[in-house]
Amino acid sequence: MRIAVVPGDGIGKEVVPATLPALTAVSEAFGLGLTYDVLDWGADRWLATGVGLPPGALDRLSRDYGAVYLGALGDPRIPDMAHGRDILLGLRRGLDLCVNHRPVVLEHGVVDLYRENTQGLYAGVGGSVARSGAVTVAIDECVYTRETVESFVRYCLARLHAAGRRRATLVHKSNAVPNTGRLWQDVFRRELRAFPGLAGSEEYADSFCYHLVRDPSRYEGVLAPNLFGDVISDIGAALAGGLGLAPSASICPDTGFALFEPVHGSAPDIAGTGTANPYGAAMSLVLLLEHAGHRAAAEVFRSCLVEAAAGPAATPDLGGGGTTRQFMAEVTALLERRLPAAPPAAVGPGTD
Ligand code: NAD
Ligand code: IPM
Ligand code: MN
Repeated sequence: MRIAVVPGDGIGKEVVPATLPALTAVSEAFGLGLTYDVLDWGADRWLATGVGLPPGALDRLSRDYGAVYLGALGDPRIPDMAHGRDILLGLRRGLDLCVNHRPVVLEHGVVDLYRENTQGLYAGVGGSVARSGAVTVAIDECVYTRETVESFVRYCLARLHAAGRRRATLVHKSNAVPNTGRLWQDVFRRELRAFPGLAGSEEYADSFCYHLVRDPSRYEGVLAPNLFGDVISDIGAALAGGLGLAPSASICPDTGFALFEPVHGSAPDIAGTGTANPYGAAMSLVLLLEHAGHRAAAEVFRSCLVEAAAGPAATPDLGGGGTTRQFMAEVTALLERRLPAAPPAAVGPGTD
């Protein structure tokens, strides 16, 4: 598989390059044949040329690559994040990556958070009216199509079922936002019928957040529309130990094409210090390996990350003294001890 690597901006340009040698080591030891190309999409290119997502990029990604690995977008020189929407939301929408899996690893177990990733308040439908340079009316529409909600809900329930989960919770706000709320409830109830082993529940988004913080063990699988899912991701990251830990996978249910990125942003407050935590980015590579069916490789990589994060090489957000690179050096050292010896080079017939 060929991977398109987009470090992006800020700490994305630090954590992504720091994690690539570990991916290469895992790929070589397991004979996975992973290769990658690094692409320069981000703030510098936007400011120099005005190009965010280059023309033809979506076709090229679908044709030539199996996955995207992205760091983060966001730069103080572009305060309205125009380039970030063009690139990040352009990839999510343009590649139909409607399923955003953001697992939250907690003491009691994992809460599988699934965020719809392409529509809702992120549909890009809206506008504003200005008078004398001041905005007087502003509209961002929440748009959901049955096709996308069905595809999302079906995929998430199937994944939860396959993972042996027993409970799925729909987060909505149909008391205040009834139209999209009712669509989500109707689809959720219908799709649940195909999975008798999964008990469904529905919670208002405000009350859900309250219960999540007080007792996250109530939840196993959570399905949320786009903006609710974005907010819940950061609450989940806080419960799990910090934004530096949280990984994500954005998947197209129809094609299986996927984009892997940490949940965090470009963190301008610590960019350049070399201390950003690469754990969430590296764990996103673990999700990539799992998604590609390389389960054994994913498990070894995951166990080394978990062990390194509990030791002195952990980065300052986790209370350790390590830098981004020192942490990944520790992970690579652990990998060297645990990885199988690289498979022998293939010998063709007739050669000796
Ligand atoms: P942020 O996630 O970048 O940072 C929030 C806080 O968490 C900061 O204090 C930061 O230092 C800390 N943090 C984040 N990642 C960390 C890591 N790996 N290690 C240690 N600490 C970490 O959120 P923000 O400050 O609101 O946003 C900064 C920029 O990033 C904005 O331009 C925003 O739009 C963008 N953003 C991009 C993405 C993305 O590309 N997926 C996600 C969120 C925010
Ligand atoms: C995320 C980010 C993005 C989002 C922003 C940067 C557009 O917060 O990936 O969680 O809102 O989806
Ligand atoms: Mn977010």
